[in-house]
Amino acid sequence: MKYIVSDIHSCNVVELNKIHNPAGNITIIQNDDHQPFKVRRIYYLYDVPGGSERGGHAHKQLHQLIAAASGSFDVIIDDSRNKKIVQLNRPYFGLLIVPGIWREIVNFSSGAICLVLASEKYEPGDYIRDYSDYIKFKHDSPIV
Ligand code: TYD
Repeated sequence: MKYIVSDIHSCNVVELNKIHNPAGNITIIQNDDHQPFKVRRIYYLYDVPGGSERGGHAHKQLHQLIAAASGSFDVIIDDSRNKKIVQLNRPYFGLLIVPGIWREIVNFSSGAICLVLASEKYEPGDYIRDYSDYIKFKHDSPIV
């Protein structure tokens, strides 16, 4: 299997649309508009207790768009060489995460909803859950 060599500079925050309405706003995400992948799965994290940390893994093939549908949280992205923290705190911004990036999601505000659009259905074999395995993966992966 070949993997794309990726770094955190390929993980961009994109501004989504916002249809303003005094009775409540709407943001629309549809295939081919904002995310460079077809959405095959949507999930969301909610009822996250204060102080909890989620993520703590990388994906080998999966692309994701992460948005704070409500509240805020920080996403730490790490490509084994560089690391940065992206704060998501508006429902009309999304962070694109390419394959091969270690991520942790921290500092959830009370009532935060972390919405995730994913390019593939759930596949446990796509996860790297151990950081030392991740470093090995980044350094050993065949280059496309
Ligand atoms: P995981 O992706 O590890 O959560 P997080 O990164 O937010 O901490 O998933 C937590 C559990 O949920 C794990 O047992 C796998 C399961 N799960 C599914 O069954 N399907 C899914 O699409 C996802 C995202 C998780």
